[in-house]
Amino acid sequence: MVFSSRVFAVVFVAALGLGATACGSAAPPMATHVDAERVARRWPGTTLADLNRGRRLYRSRCSSCHLPVHPKRIKPTDWPGHVSEMSIRAHLNHDEKRLVVRYLITMSSATHANNKSASAKP
Ligand code: HEC
Repeated sequence: MVFSSRVFAVVFVAALGLGATACGSAAPPMATHVDAERVARRWPGTTLADLNRGRRLYRSRCSSCHLPVHPKRIKPTDWPGHVSEMSIRAHLNHDEKRLVVRYLITMSSATHANNKSASAKP
């Protein structure tokens, strides 16, 4: 049924949005074109699709033991060390690790929108 699945999709997306604002650590933020511009300055050739591949890996591989830590909770310069340490546990290969690190560093250094709750934390 097309109608009910569309309703479901809308409710689902709304629930995700609420989750992201209510609890910054549950769902890692989506990368936007603003993030893509920033990552391309730092690592030329890296795209928005790469960032969101990193996000998907981060969500799927880094949240089996604990909730994914919000990117802003850790300083950009500290992320590579955490990911190196955790990538053994998460069984990330070299390319996957690189995508996750680029996503986390980029989102950690974001200054725009949706991260008010995260920056209020200690
Ligand atoms: C097999 C379980 C497991 C997986 C998978 C895992 N972690 Fe962890 N993580 C832990 C445990 C246990 C701790 C706390 C103790 C420690 O640091 O060893 C932790 C702590 C952390 C911390 C420190 C949190 C803080 O507030 O200081 C970060 C950051 C982190 N993990 C990131 C990641 C990332 C990124 C990944 C994916 C690459 C990942 N974790 C995958 C078990 C896991």
